[in-house]
Amino acid sequence: MTHEAPASQNGVSNDFQSFCQSALGKMLYFSRRRLLLLLPLACCLLAGLFYLHLLSVPALTPRHQVAQAYTTHLQLDLQALRQNFPKLRDEVIRQHSGPHRNQLDQMMLSYLPVFNTSAWVLHSPRGRRFTIAEVQAVAKSTVQPGFLVPNVAHFVLPFGDTQLQFHHMVSILSCLHVMKPHRMMLWYAPGRLPTGQWWDRVRKNLTEAEWDEKIIMAQRPVPTSVYSVPARGREHQSDVMRLEAVLVFGGVYLDIDVLVLKPLDPLRKFAFTIGRETSDGLCNGIFLSAPNWTFLAMWHTAYQVFNDDAWNEHSVRLPHSMQRAFPDLSHVEEDSLNRPNWTPDEVAWIYGIGQQHRWDWRKKNYAVHLFGTFEDENMSSIRSRNSMYGEMCRHILFGSG
Ligand SMILES: *[C@@H]1O[C@H](CO)[C@@H](O)[C@H](O)[C@H]1NC(C)=O
Ligand SMILES: *[C@@H]1O[C@H](CO)[C@@H](O)[C@H](O)[C@H]1NC(C)=O
Ligand SMILES: *[C@@H]1O[C@H](CO)[C@@H](O)[C@H](O)[C@H]1NC(C)=O
Ligand SMILES: *[C@@H]1O[C@H](CO)[C@@H](O)[C@H](O)[C@H]1NC(C)=O
Repeated sequence: MTHEAPASQNGVSNDFQSFCQSALGKMLYFSRRRLLLLLPLACCLLAGLFYLHLLSVPALTPRHQVAQAYTTHLQLDLQALRQNFPKLRDEVIRQHSGPHRNQLDQMMLSYLPVFNTSAWVLHSPRGRRFTIAEVQAVAKSTVQPGFLVPNVAHFVLPFGDTQLQFHHMVSILSCLHVMKPHRMMLWYAPGRLPTGQWWDRVRKNLTEAEWDEKIIMAQRPVPTSVYSVPARGREHQSDVMRLEAVLVFGGVYLDIDVLVLKPLDPLRKFAFTIGRETSDGLCNGIFLSAPNWTFLAMWHTAYQVFNDDAWNEHSVRLPHSMQRAFPDLSHVEEDSLNRPNWTPDEVAWIYGIGQQHRWDWRKKNYAVHLFGTFEDENMSSIRSRNSMYGEMCRHILFGSG
């Protein structure tokens, strides 16, 4: 596996470097006397450039400064996890709606996320194998100064019906062409590689070489339990897979019914971002995180008291209450990721014929989550679909609409 050279510095740093080099050249050229006069001037210029450099980094609140120090230190923050644990446990137990209410204290014991990666198999589409450490190194190399989240996308492919549908294809292409991840990791269950005409179209969208370089197929067993709690719902199994994928590599997790509409880079400057879905829910269908980030690790440990019977307890309501309990550990996008939401009113904005004026996705959204209520389309029918869904698909597929 070839390790990438670390991603180049951003423009400001390059300017800064070439300025230093040219300033140095001039200083050597001038006589000492002139040098003495020029030195204060050069210092002022340097200070000015440094100031500009600071301005180019997004305004950082104290919590994000903490996060920034974290780039050099990607290990789990054990101290924070230990300190936050009692409050997290109270919060999780308070939210719990399952039948084991009086045993929860004994179930929620570990402040460390615990899971087993030994059966993970990472490979290129043509079968080149990678170790976890190799892929982590590539992911890390994509984190430029001022950023915290690797430019890596993760999808969990359907492991029930492996045949991709039209909107899955649009989702993957939107990620490849709008987000432009350095690597795309496609998580799949053993023996469940994707199939069908829409998968073929995704494959043929890139050259063989691009495909083999950019795509990492990530095979892992579907978790049937988490800690020792059974997890039988497919959506819940996929919930666990995504948390573990992003804990280990960092990056952007996208449900395969999410359309990316604008580059996500501004959000990669926060250690953790998630989108609001409703007033009491943050949706795990889209999130961005640095690897090992404390909020994500805490979210995983909360699965010690997982409740398979509650549809959105751990995936939506828990991140909402955790975010309120630990506001310094996450950034919330209110409208730009999961609005319109799944409520009948808002779903109608997406699919309703002639309803496009109800929501300005071009201005408002980084991404739109289709919430599984997509319609069956094809490359010709989508051209005349007079809805926000039609517009977004055409925008992604044909650069029009
Ligand atoms: C995450 O933390 C664990 C434990 O501290 C460490 O072994 C692992 O290498 C870290 N992951 C990354 C991407 O650095
Ligand atoms: C992790 O999984 C592997 C293979 O699935 C298994 O052999 C091993 O015993 C597991 N390790 C632990 C600590 O559970
Ligand atoms: C495309 O979809 C439309 C409407 O669903 C259908 O009528 C048409 O036959 C489909 N075309 C192809 C080539 O599948
Ligand atoms: C790949 O997909 C993009 C975005 O949908 C499209 O613009 C481009 O023409 C496609 N390229 C190929 C070779 O299919």
